[in-house]
Amino acid sequence: MARPTLPPTGIERTWPEHLLIVSKTDTRGIITYANEVFCEVAGYAPAELEGQSHNIIRHPDMPRCVFKLLWDTISAGEEIFAYVVNQAKTGDHYWVFAHVTPTFDAAGRIVGYHSSRRVPTKGAVAAAKALYADLLAIEARHASPKDGMAAAAAALGETLKARKLDYDEFVFSL
Ligand SMILES: Cc1cc2nc3c(=O)[nH]c(=O)nc-3n(C[C@H](O)[C@H](O)[C@H](O)COP(=O)(O)O)c2cc1C
Repeated sequence: MARPTLPPTGIERTWPEHLLIVSKTDTRGIITYANEVFCEVAGYAPAELEGQSHNIIRHPDMPRCVFKLLWDTISAGEEIFAYVVNQAKTGDHYWVFAHVTPTFDAAGRIVGYHSSRRVPTKGAVAAAKALYADLLAIEARHASPKDGMAAAAAALGETLKARKLDYDEFVFSL
C-alpha cells in the first residue's frame, strides 16, 4: 500500500496522556506490530498497517534529515528520542515524542526496531515545528534530495554547536 494519498487537512489529533502509541518493525522498517492506540490515532485497522513500510504515516512537514539521523542511530545499535509529526489516514496530523530502540537477538544482532510514543508538551511541539520548518526549507533549496538532506543536517549540527548541546540534550531541552 502506498502512503496516504489524502492531502493534509491541517486538523491536529491527540490521545490520552497515559497511553503510549507503540509499533515494532523489522530491520527495514516494515511494520510487524501496531498497538490499539496506534491504530486508533492513525485511523488504520491493524491489518492495514502490518506488512507496510512505516512511512505509511509520514507527514510532508517532516524533514528527511531527521529520519536519516533516526536510521543512522538505530542501525548503529543506539536508541534515539525524536519529535515527529505523523499523518493519519484521513490527512489529520498528530505530534509524538518518540523513543526508538533496536531489538537484539541472543547473538547481539539487530533483529528489528521498537518505537514508543508519548503525548508531547505544547512547548516542545512549537519548538520542533519551528526547527523542522527551517530544516525543510533548507532541504527544499536543493535540487537533489541527498544534497538538501546533507545541508539540513549540517544546519542542525550548527544549531547544536551554537547551543553547546549534543542531540539528546537538545531534544530534551525543547
Ligand atoms: C521503529 C520505527 C518507527 C518509526 N516510526 C515512524 C513514524 O512514526 N513516522 C514516520 O514518519 N516514520 C517513522 N519511521 C521511519 C520510517 O521508516 C521512514 O524512514 C520515514 O517515514 C521516512 O520515509 P521516506 O524515507 O519514505 O521519506 C520509523 C522507523 C522505525 C524503524
